Amino acid sequence: MLQNSKMKFLPLYVTILVPVTLCQLISIPLHRMKSTRQLMAEVGTDLSDLEYFLKSKPKPHRTNDSVALFKYMDSEFYGIAQFGHPGQPFKMVFDTTWGNTWVPSSKCSWLSPPCFLHKKYNSKASSTYYPNGTTFKIDFGSTGILKGFLSTDEFNIAHTTVKNITFAEAVNIPMTFAMSKADGVLGLGFSSISVDGVTPIFYSLLQQGAIAQPVFSFYFNRDHTSERGGNLILGGSEAKHYNGSFTYFTVTERGYWKIKMDRMEVDTGKKTVGECVSGCDVILDTSTITIRVPNKTAKKLNDLFDATSEWLGRTRVPCNLIPKFPPLSFVFAEKYFIVESHVYIQKVNVLGVTFCLSPFVAWDFNSTRETWVIGGAFMSQYYTEFDLGKNRVGFALAR
Ligand SMILES: *[C@@H]1O[C@H](CO)[C@@H](O)[C@H](O)[C@H]1NC(C)=O
Ligand SMILES: *[C@@H]1O[C@H](CO)[C@@H](O)[C@H](O)[C@H]1NC(C)=O
Ligand SMILES: *[C@@H]1O[C@H](CO)[C@@H](O)[C@H](O)[C@H]1NC(C)=O
Ligand SMILES: *[C@@H]1O[C@H](CO)[C@@H](O)[C@H](O)[C@H]1NC(C)=O
Ligand SMILES: *[C@@H]1O[C@H](CO)[C@@H](O)[C@H](O)[C@H]1NC(C)=O
Ligand SMILES: *[C@@H]1O[C@H](CO)[C@@H](O)[C@H](O)[C@H]1NC(C)=O
Repeated sequence: MLQNSKMKFLPLYVTILVPVTLCQLISIPLHRMKSTRQLMAEVGTDLSDLEYFLKSKPKPHRTNDSVALFKYMDSEFYGIAQFGHPGQPFKMVFDTTWGNTWVPSSKCSWLSPPCFLHKKYNSKASSTYYPNGTTFKIDFGSTGILKGFLSTDEFNIAHTTVKNITFAEAVNIPMTFAMSKADGVLGLGFSSISVDGVTPIFYSLLQQGAIAQPVFSFYFNRDHTSERGGNLILGGSEAKHYNGSFTYFTVTERGYWKIKMDRMEVDTGKKTVGECVSGCDVILDTSTITIRVPNKTAKKLNDLFDATSEWLGRTRVPCNLIPKFPPLSFVFAEKYFIVESHVYIQKVNVLGVTFCLSPFVAWDFNSTRETWVIGGAFMSQYYTEFDLGKNRVGFALAR
């Protein structure tokens, strides 16, 4: 879900980094997360990933090696971060379309399903907590209002701990989050989209010298049979997960991670279908597997896949035809990035029935320029580096 806020173009100070002595990358395991709707469609089963995380003791000389990953069959991705001291672990969606970070608060009503179904942060149980109290509010229109207040506390991710991170304690959470596997959202967008002018956590990690480079990257594993969901690497990129080198594109607006796309081409063998033919904006969204495109585009593209039916707001396609589906060519600065059907088609297993889903979801973004919101369906094929310092995004073939 994109953070719905007015775009403020505040001066950014992250590029003027404090001298950094530590030189390390942090690799955070990402667990694939079922979307709200698919969870609802399924009998509840839980994996003991949280316990696993808590049992894995830090090694004495930590490197950027990955910790064990778990796979959830579906569309969103999350990892573990801890707030307070002693650390209270939360499942967080690492979302490049958010500036803020929030977790459910212990002050959230137990009668509210999004709160009783999730872990809640309790400031009373933390010795490093400082109150702030500023009201935090994001209005999602018909979806509801996310409301709470700011708090400051210690923060731990992977094996790094930083002091005085400001985040929102949510006391009113839209119902749509109720069935979400993750407890909260950790924003990896620019500070300009951060509500209340809160410093995004990634900026704080940089300021406190916890990571060397103002870069983070995502590796999404699309092996349907694997237990691994991918990695978020803070401070660099994991060479073992990509081939060749990165091709970089300038971020056109420091709010969302937005770049320009020339067009997309699909060669069906019989004809070549072009979309976004006179260019469009692309927002990279690490919180979802889907690709959100204008309504008319979604219809045209989904028709290419012999769409059979709608299923919980997604377009179902025949699984047996996946090998026959054409590759998608995303063209950035006249360079072709080709995504294969076994990567972009999502396979969801519900009670022994496999549903194959098109990545394309209709969504008319309210913007003067045509805008696509591209998620894991693309980034699973292309390891994606988000370079805050050089104001660019890089793609390299994932492996
Ligand atoms: C954290 O913030 C509090 C309150 O503003 C301040 O007293 C404390 O020194 C800060 N700690 C660090 C390590 O910056
Ligand atoms: C609360 O946090 C905001 C955002 O970081 C900051 O601007 C404000 O000064 C803080 N207020 C207090 C009372 O600490
Ligand atoms: C850790 O980072 C270094 C430097 O970027 C890189 O060469 C190395 O491959 C990374 N380690 C792993 C396990 O990917
Ligand atoms: C586009 O499609 C979405 C989802 O089907 C729908 O909610 C929305 O109203 C449509 N917008 C327009 C302008 O038709
Ligand atoms: C689209 O954005 C404009 C300008 O921000 C706003 O005035 C308008 O109400 C928005 N339309 C919708 C349907 O949200
Ligand atoms: C990456 O490179 C290795 C060695 O050159 C090759 O075997 C492998 O197929 C490549 N992977 C991809 C995804 O292209």
